[in-house]
Amino acid sequence: MDTLDQIKAPIKIYLKDFTKEFNQSMKSRVPLLNTITRYMVKRKGKQIRPIFVFLSAGICGEISAKTSRAASLIELLHTATLIHDDVVDESYKRRGFFSSNALRGNKIAVLVGDFLLSRGLLLSVKNNDHDLLKIVSDAVQEMSEGELLQIEKARKLDIEEDIYFEIIRKKTATLIASCCATGAASVGASANQVEAFWEFGENVGIAFQIKDDIFDYQQSTNKEKPAGIDIKEKKMTLPLIFLLKNSSYVEQRKIIYQVKNKSRDPKIVAEIIEKVKQSGGIEYAKKHMNHYHNLALDFLKQFPESEFKTSLQTLVEYTTSRNR
Ligand code: IPE
Ligand code: IPE
Ligand code: MG
Ligand code: MG
Repeated sequence: MDTLDQIKAPIKIYLKDFTKEFNQSMKSRVPLLNTITRYMVKRKGKQIRPIFVFLSAGICGEISAKTSRAASLIELLHTATLIHDDVVDESYKRRGFFSSNALRGNKIAVLVGDFLLSRGLLLSVKNNDHDLLKIVSDAVQEMSEGELLQIEKARKLDIEEDIYFEIIRKKTATLIASCCATGAASVGASANQVEAFWEFGENVGIAFQIKDDIFDYQQSTNKEKPAGIDIKEKKMTLPLIFLLKNSSYVEQRKIIYQVKNKSRDPKIVAEIIEKVKQSGGIEYAKKHMNHYHNLALDFLKQFPESEFKTSLQTLVEYTTSRNR
């Protein structure tokens, strides 16, 4: 059994219902939409967000239909965001296959993303899940802000470490925070507890994105995404920020010039990756990743032993040890 299956064991029956509801939410009377969403259902991702929703709910109380709606809402938003993200990043691969924009073009991809976003919101509105919507809408706003901030920095190439953390917190961590907060809220947890689960998820999310950014420097087993894409997109992440900070002024200018003007040349990208590795940039990023990972694990210590707790701990471990 792989790690994810192990993690999912205590919530297996709930995930089954969730999958039905999630697939149902994607259906439309427009044939073109159905063709596209049917294809997407087949290529589902790791589903770590729904798993976070269910496990956070399980550790706080009795998992309910509302928990499942929270999971669907968030996975719909997540799917919509990925479709939009691939348009923004001009990325032609997703989940080991062609992205929606690669297959159908930008116009259709943007509209399908909007459709899924509205379907998620409608699911909550129809069921009067206003508390869930309130938690999630903050995240949606922050995700757009994070993406825009990232674009601005990719143009100016003047990113500092604190801005990097602001970007990843906004674009990735707030949605994982929403998973844990809505999970807790769905079973009637107190406002304080919901807040604490938000913070827990935020720490997990920051570690998750640093891991993602480290992947870009490793031509590893991760076949879903080849290395060097971030540099090609002029995305300066923690390993590269570290290299720049520890280079002479002349060297800094050279690297920034290369990222700015030569990032489509695979040889230059390979050269930069090598420099990052030599500088210890990967270890530096790992150090930060582990810091957030440990904060998340510490939070879980207060709960009595249960299968939900064990799974949550393993899931936190998985976010930083995963190879896809
Ligand atoms: C990808 O998220 C986007 C990031 C925040 C890095 P996942 O890695 O969870 O994507 P899927 O759903 O498993 O494909
Ligand atoms: C992740 O951003 C997607 C969002 C959180 C919006 P990236 O662009 O860094 O992630 P991948 O590499 O495309 O999954
Ligand atoms: Mg992307
Ligand atoms: Mg992106």
